[in-house]
Amino acid sequence: MNSFNIVILSAILVICIAAAEDVVDPCCSFPCQNQGVCMSVNSHKDFTCDCTGLEYYGQTCETPIVSRRIKNWLRPSLTTMHKVYTGWPWLWKLVNNVPFLHRAAMRYVYLSRGAAIQSPPRFNSGHDYITTQSHFNTSYYARSLPPVPQHCPTPMGVAGHGELPDIDELAERFFKRKEFIAEPHGTNILFAYYAQHFSHQFFRTDRARGPAFTKGNDGVDVSHIYGLDQGTQDALRSFQLGKMKVRIDEDGQQFPPLLRDAPSVHMIYPPHTPQEEQVALGHALFSMQPGLFVMATVWLREHNRICDVLAVEHPDWDDERLYQTAKLIVLAQNLKITIEEYVQHLSQYKVKLSYDPELLRDEPQFQFSNRIHVEFAHLYHWHPMAPEAITLGNNTYTLEQMSFSTKTVAKHGFASFVQAIATQPAGALRHQNHGPMLLDQFKDVVRQGRQLRLQSFNNYRQLFGMPKYTSFMELTGGDVDLSRQLDKLYGDIDALEFYPGMLLEKSDSSVTPFTMVNIGGPYAIKGMMANPISSPHYWKPSTFGGPVGFDIVKSTTIKDLFCRNMKPGECGHIAFHLPTTEGQSQQQQSNSVETSSSGPSGIVLEPSPVPNYSTLPGDNHSSLMGSQTFSPPAGMTSTPHYATNYRRALTVDDLDFIECQPPSAAQWSSRHHAANNNYCRLREAHPI
Ligand code: HEM
Ligand SMILES: *[C@@H]1O[C@H](CO)[C@@H](O)[C@H](O)[C@H]1NC(C)=O
Ligand SMILES: *[C@@H]1O[C@H](CO)[C@@H](O)[C@H](O)[C@H]1NC(C)=O
Ligand SMILES: *[C@@H]1O[C@H](CO)[C@@H](O)[C@H](O)[C@H]1NC(C)=O
Ligand SMILES: *[C@@H]1O[C@H](CO)[C@@H](O)[C@H](O)[C@H]1NC(C)=O
Repeated sequence: MNSFNIVILSAILVICIAAAEDVVDPCCSFPCQNQGVCMSVNSHKDFTCDCTGLEYYGQTCETPIVSRRIKNWLRPSLTTMHKVYTGWPWLWKLVNNVPFLHRAAMRYVYLSRGAAIQSPPRFNSGHDYITTQSHFNTSYYARSLPPVPQHCPTPMGVAGHGELPDIDELAERFFKRKEFIAEPHGTNILFAYYAQHFSHQFFRTDRARGPAFTKGNDGVDVSHIYGLDQGTQDALRSFQLGKMKVRIDEDGQQFPPLLRDAPSVHMIYPPHTPQEEQVALGHALFSMQPGLFVMATVWLREHNRICDVLAVEHPDWDDERLYQTAKLIVLAQNLKITIEEYVQHLSQYKVKLSYDPELLRDEPQFQFSNRIHVEFAHLYHWHPMAPEAITLGNNTYTLEQMSFSTKTVAKHGFASFVQAIATQPAGALRHQNHGPMLLDQFKDVVRQGRQLRLQSFNNYRQLFGMPKYTSFMELTGGDVDLSRQLDKLYGDIDALEFYPGMLLEKSDSSVTPFTMVNIGGPYAIKGMMANPISSPHYWKPSTFGGPVGFDIVKSTTIKDLFCRNMKPGECGHIAFHLPTTEGQSQQQQSNSVETSSSGPSGIVLEPSPVPNYSTLPGDNHSSLMGSQTFSPPAGMTSTPHYATNYRRALTVDDLDFIECQPPSAAQWSSRHHAANNNYCRLREAHPI
């Protein structure tokens, strides 16, 4: 099959070279296999593949050396591994319960996934070959595959038409949501917001410089909670007992501070957003949905809670040490929850995923350094997961109604908001499921992919060890109509673009389609296990303030995170999936082994149970403002469409804010002093 491809490729090359006057660079057809490096010679008349160090040789690095051949023969394909990981409950029940087997399995997961990501990175978007900048210029996102060279005949090299399909047409025909399609594995909205909140700490495209650049720190640095630059970090701190600034409501509950109380924090709000509505968070765009405000709130409370615990352990520690140590604990908690519950749910693997850096203690080949790749950022645009609306009490609010407002949280209460997002479904990660507010984000990421000259979906499949799809029929799982349309638009399966391909692929047993989990998984596991905190000299109790801090890290779950930061009795179902109907509180790993027998055949796509939008009294405002657009503030200028159709059904008149007293330093600091802390109480005057 491989050699068959090569024969065809060579034939094409011969024809091209013979026929064309101005000769096409043979490297434009990506002839080298197995990560061999193509170099054209004799002014594009010929090419060589550099197979150095690859366990493959031959003109196109196609022939494995004997030991590799044996390993390839023994090694199960990714498809087989995926079936084993997501199926075979009896096997995993055994493995999960036998510690040494489980450790071996987890080590295999870490190492096999980590090895798929090159470290140091070879490419960025500036050149289609290695440069000194590939490693040293960290303003660039790294890249796993270089850009398609500019001088190639088509945007994908040689495959497909001279121009890629019209983006608006693609969006309208294949990606626009006609009817909400719920995520078929029971993923809830809490999962979607966790994903957005967590991932934005390292996906921080520098829009001013362009899609090739990032402002972020190449990994899990908890900047989504604490802020990225030093100014923001300081502005969000109280400088008392290690704690973050808070605003305390009538109930004594802590919330993130108002922006005017942390004025140097950069937040994006539409003009004329009342000051009382603007909050200061770790990421400028976390203003956009109350779900992000809720995630920010719970981490803020957890940080301050940990400070209290540490202060008891270490009465002599100053503010700085309490803050820094609590931050390390929060970072480790982020990794713990993300691997053990979030990725567990996302992958639907039956092997119990654990965050256990000790397993890498004796693995010298594991490199504790990470770069964020632009391909990872693109595939993580999970906008189809966003719901149409959230139902709170008797009201259903659309995303548009909730934009740039935390009113729904204030009106219905933190606990009901959390309960709502934990019990209402996220959207399915697939085509035909971008909601009205997010279709522009689809267009934007496709446009960026073109600007960056990302290689084809198939080239990425190959890089990550999956065979290229041979037809759109194979990609879509036999959808004749869809395949025919795509065939016409793209001309060739090898011309299919990266991001659209991710969502057009037939659905599978994971929450993400197969290719997305097998490309995203390596980036994710590598990024988290290569975090400095996972390295042997960090991963010890003293880093976290002693055994008490280390225990907090090791015992964290998403449920605890919420429940110990909410009033007793307020905390209901908390998980990354909907409550199960059998009434058993499903502990993710153990029960999913028995209960879910998901597979393509078991997937039922159901429309949202909550498409009925209630009319808000404030709708008068929306009819006033519905057709208006505002000029987006600096930083959003490259996504002008985001601002269109911005409707603000809720206004500040709906809530009566008691005047806020400028707080003293002591008032910021502690929950114990909540009773005396009259700073900025939220009070509802009349319902919205
Ligand atoms: C809930 C409604 C959501 C809205 C209104 C929204 C909106 C946006 C906007 C406006 C941008 C562009 C930001 C910019 O121009 O700098 C963006 C980027 C992005 N969104 Fe969302 N999003 C939502 C949900 C999600 C979710 C659930 C995810 C899941 C992971 C997600 C992942 C991303 C990623 C990875 C980017 C790129 C960030 C970057 O490169 O800087 N979004 N989104
Ligand atoms: C990184 O590359 C960009 C684009 O070429 C350049 O503007 C920037 O100065 C470089 N940064 C460093 C640190 O070299
Ligand atoms: C919802 O509506 C019902 C009937 O109109 C009412 O009895 C109930 O109190 C309402 N619930 C809330 C939380 O407003
Ligand atoms: C929405 O709810 C109203 C009253 O509760 C009902 O009459 C109407 O049919 C519902 N609309 C939809 C689309 O379900
Ligand atoms: C909405 O506007 C109409 C006319 O502009 C007015 O008669 C009505 O009282 C308003 N309703 C509310 C709830 O403000």
